[in-house]
Amino acid sequence: MAQYNLLIRGGRLLDGTGAPAVDADIAVKDGKIHAIGDAGNDTARTIDASGMTVAPGFIDVHCHDDIALINTPALDFKTAQGMTTAICGNCGLGAAPANEHVKEFFSRGIEGVLGPVQDFSWQTISEFYDAVRAAKPSPNAAFLVPHGTLRVSTIGWENRYPTDAELNEMKEHLAEGMAAGAVGMSTGLVYVPGAFAKTAELIELNRVVAEFGGIYVSHIRNEGPGLLDAVAEAIRIGEEAGTAVQISHHKASGRDSWGGTKDSLALIDEARARGVDVTMDAYPYTAASTALAALTRNGRLVRQLDPHDVMVASVKYQHEYEGRRLDEIADLMDLPLEDAIPKLLNDEDQAVVAVMFIMDEADVRRVLQHPQCMIGSDGIPSPTGKPHPRLYGTFPRVLQRYVREEGILSLEEAVRKMTSLPAQTFKLEGRGVLKEGAWADIVVFDPETITETSTYEDPRQYPTGISHVIVNGEIVVEDKKVSHPLSGMLLERT
Ligand code: ZN
Ligand code: CU
Repeated sequence: MAQYNLLIRGGRLLDGTGAPAVDADIAVKDGKIHAIGDAGNDTARTIDASGMTVAPGFIDVHCHDDIALINTPALDFKTAQGMTTAICGNCGLGAAPANEHVKEFFSRGIEGVLGPVQDFSWQTISEFYDAVRAAKPSPNAAFLVPHGTLRVSTIGWENRYPTDAELNEMKEHLAEGMAAGAVGMSTGLVYVPGAFAKTAELIELNRVVAEFGGIYVSHIRNEGPGLLDAVAEAIRIGEEAGTAVQISHHKASGRDSWGGTKDSLALIDEARARGVDVTMDAYPYTAASTALAALTRNGRLVRQLDPHDVMVASVKYQHEYEGRRLDEIADLMDLPLEDAIPKLLNDEDQAVVAVMFIMDEADVRRVLQHPQCMIGSDGIPSPTGKPHPRLYGTFPRVLQRYVREEGILSLEEAVRKMTSLPAQTFKLEGRGVLKEGAWADIVVFDPETITETSTYEDPRQYPTGISHVIVNGEIVVEDKKVSHPLSGMLLERT
């Protein structure tokens, strides 16, 4: 028997901490990094990494792959871009705890974001985690307890403060999820019914998260004109309950709000200076994406969105609309916009996902450069249509565009944002760094050639410049071929 399962030879090793690269081999044994440096050559397999950079596998802190992990467990769109761990349950959206209300939550539009659930074979959060384990996904996964699902399962769509009994029921489900290993709780305060929760409810629930040492992760209440108040609310929730706070997909949305991240980052820095652990994530694009239903009230677009800035990404039935702007679709339907939007949503069972061109490049750069900003794709794993290219291209795009082409991030710093920073923030022990004894989650890529090939018009393309992706010592991507070796684990907060 060979001493090692795998030896990665001749690469430039970036350990994920932000330290400069060193030339070193990595020996893998039983899923873990056994030795770094000159490890000999008694190995079952060798990967020649000469000319390549070897880094910890990327941790995608903002995933909506909860159901995709079960439906398409190879998760090829993520592993092909170097991702080895998916943190799911974001934006308050998820599939557990499950009951009739939660099934309805899916049929009212959430299915467009998370994908269809074939069979709700679970009720509790830990039963859902078991279903994910049983699907044997390729990458590792960790979960947040989604507040929108907690709320809808307990009080449905009612826009009011929960009664004491309801709040207790939500707390019990939350504690059950945290005990099963969840890394924290997420909210989506622009989505119904998450949006019905007042600050006090969120502080109350977040006290349970604090007891378990988890993190509060929020798609905040407003990313446009009310950005500062919304960031302040997130900070207050963490500060009063005693948890760390992660601001999801931090941005300034809509032309009138451009430049707003200067003040929002200042607010975050201020909170950090008084000891609140506030961090954030971002994806490297000026377009956002979400359920169309969340962008409309009574058939009209909210937040002064220009219909031409909104592209339909995926639908359930009328695929001819995918890739078209809302004004074009209204023309095709020969209807005024305020009639076209409700008809589209209705005809598609609400399952319409949109891409919105609403951000300014200067804000994107500013947020990405913040030392506490990590990378989160927010990819929406629609099985059909033209999903936002972030689903396939987030990590390669950061390395191509912001490291190689624009030079606004060093390679070491960009990799840190994808690896050790998320592992620390979400308390994933033994992940996100290359060191002896850590799990062998590894990506081998060429920083000179790594390229996103996914586009808005043609998003389903694997990037180039990544030769190998390894999860728990198993090769999941080799020369653009994605395999499904059942290598992933469900990670628990440590
Ligand atoms: Zn969100
Ligand atoms: Cu999201």
